[in-house]
Amino acid sequence: MNMGQEQDIFPRLPAPLLAWYDTHARVLPWRGNPAPYRVWISEIMLQQTRVEAVKPYFERFLAELPDLEALAAAPEDVLLKLWEGLGYYNRVRNLRKAAKAILERYGGVFPSSCEELMSLPGIGEYTAGAIASISFGLPCPAVDGNVLRVIARVTENRGDVMKDKVHGEIASRLKAVYPAGRCGDFTQSLMELGATVCLPNGEPMCLVCPWRGLCVACREGSTDEIPVKAAKKARSIEEKTVFLLRCGEKAAFRRRPRAGLLAGMWELPNVEGVLPAAQASAQAAQWGAEPLCAVPAGKAVHVFTHKEWHMQGFRIECGREAEAFAWMTRSEFEAALALPSAFRGFLEFLWRGR
Ligand code: ADE
Repeated sequence: MNMGQEQDIFPRLPAPLLAWYDTHARVLPWRGNPAPYRVWISEIMLQQTRVEAVKPYFERFLAELPDLEALAAAPEDVLLKLWEGLGYYNRVRNLRKAAKAILERYGGVFPSSCEELMSLPGIGEYTAGAIASISFGLPCPAVDGNVLRVIARVTENRGDVMKDKVHGEIASRLKAVYPAGRCGDFTQSLMELGATVCLPNGEPMCLVCPWRGLCVACREGSTDEIPVKAAKKARSIEEKTVFLLRCGEKAAFRRRPRAGLLAGMWELPNVEGVLPAAQASAQAAQWGAEPLCAVPAGKAVHVFTHKEWHMQGFRIECGREAEAFAWMTRSEFEAALALPSAFRGFLEFLWRGR
């Protein structure tokens, strides 16, 4: 590691990066108006997926729930529908909890300090830093995976960026060089560089980087070795049989338990393990659905952070709307329910025919 150079580098980072950002920043829906409500919603969404995927979610969310009052009063199913497909559904529940807390504790005025922001549900150091710097112009870094990567490379830091110690050092070194008057732009320019130039997986575009000449990893040819991340634990695999139960125009849905994975979300009925067709029919009979025959309806794999579901679907025509489930037509379902992505691959089979 080039410790000598690394110590010199931090103060030299803001100027070329901001000059680059002035001409290269993407126009994004949440950038024109950095009101804290907008920055908050966008940053929570951006923790889950790519910028391009977030854009329509952000526009729709802001159109339906334009302020703290609307968010605090939104029914859970409306929230889940607006979040459908983004995953990590507790995040949207926390948005509503935090909106209520801001109304109750702060009279509806967003707090600006990192400490107060971090006292709100679902707001951690990253989100607090993003809101404090982008909306309130405070020198608070927001260190996500992009920022860890660009800083680890420019300083050729070979520490494990998943470790709190390395993360903390990067955050405090950055905080010390936040440029007065341009704190929000500095936060966003670090993210922007990571998203558009200093790309992961050995693909950085060093020729167009505003830090070429400064970057130790570029000079030493080590960009593909940095950032260092400890190997992740293997995910566990759960096999499931998923039931596409139809009764006339309607299909069966149920709610998941209030706690645990996908807590309180709607789902297609399912059981542990992969059942053969005859046993799948027997299960449907046990639910009281009077099944006809079970037809295989495709396989799907869904990857969560810590586990994978490997699913086999069966479509079963039923003679009775068993009480265990909510039976809905396609249009009733589409208007009201949010279905986690894990099950969405089965929807085509579910609504096929009739
Ligand atoms: N990724 C996370 N936050 C972002 C932001 N504000 N702009 C662009 N990409 C981001």
